[in-house]
Amino acid sequence: MVPVSFDLFSDASTSLVKQYLSAELFNQLKDKVTATGFTLEKALQSGIINPDSAIGIYAGDAQSYQCFSSIFIPIILHYHGVNLGKKHSTDIHLVDFQPPDPEGKYIRSSRVRVARNISGFSFSNHIALAERYRLEKQVVSVLSALGGDLKGSYCPFEHCESSQFKLLKQQQLTFEKGDRFQDAAGINADFPKGRGIFYSDDRRLRVWLNEEDHLRIISQETSADLAGLFNHLTKAILELEKKLPFVRDERFGYLSSCPTNIGTSMRAGVHIQLEKLGQRKELLSSITKGHDLQIRGTQGEKTRVENNVFDISNSRRLGISEVDIITGLNEGLKALIDAEEKL
Ligand code: ARG
Repeated sequence: MVPVSFDLFSDASTSLVKQYLSAELFNQLKDKVTATGFTLEKALQSGIINPDSAIGIYAGDAQSYQCFSSIFIPIILHYHGVNLGKKHSTDIHLVDFQPPDPEGKYIRSSRVRVARNISGFSFSNHIALAERYRLEKQVVSVLSALGGDLKGSYCPFEHCESSQFKLLKQQQLTFEKGDRFQDAAGINADFPKGRGIFYSDDRRLRVWLNEEDHLRIISQETSADLAGLFNHLTKAILELEKKLPFVRDERFGYLSSCPTNIGTSMRAGVHIQLEKLGQRKELLSSITKGHDLQIRGTQGEKTRVENNVFDISNSRRLGISEVDIITGLNEGLKALIDAEEKL
């Protein structure tokens, strides 16, 4: 028999899911259903429609990681390069170190985000509209109670005619409907209903609601004060955690709809302009790889690098702690700046 993965995925597909889903595994999993009704077929939708998917699978709820573990585990091992025998431990606390680019010569902006999902709800690719609204209401009530430098406002996208929304859009604080990968996964269903953004009065903290995950908690600045940025985000996460039951698994850490984001679910990165290293791609890539960093395009995932402005962020998210990610990024950036200055 021809392996089913050959039937499901186009010849052009090089996704991890195609690589690991054998015909036997497919047959073993095809009739399984989670308590919320999530199936393998739905998990594979985006990877089938988009042959250029790198991963090609999404989880529809927390239980998907158990129910379909025989396909998620090899993908997680491959992507995160970890040994799953160990527990994933979380370490989020205040840090103190010198910024990597104190004079702001290279770093244009820095950003740290984590993804969080709330227990008892299907993930964004599988949630019904009424549930999206219920989740929005629950989260907004907690966000609205934040005080001090986390105090802010919520802007629902449904009222996108509002002057509040227009202003936020101008300031590039809103998020757009998801790309074709997210779309095929079901993440854009009923957009913009139930979506919105909470932003602190000083705009440093943003929380995206009902995007690829229930919450994306983001701290962003134009400076390169990574420790300050991380501490700010840490405060927000610790506050929210007191009131919201985030889904967490002993081995996989915080769970997300896309298996690339499990673990710390944290991406910490900068936009950095490296004119000279930009001409020395091999050196640039060996320094970033050596520090477990990855390079994305200037406008984010799957975009091009413009004017030698690289989006550089941590590549490890599982089996590493939040504090180790931020200190590792700091070290890697110092090495890059050092190399740039020597060229
Ligand atoms: N599903 C897409 C792929 O397989 C995106 C994967 C990672 N990105 C993300 N935003 N979750 O290539």
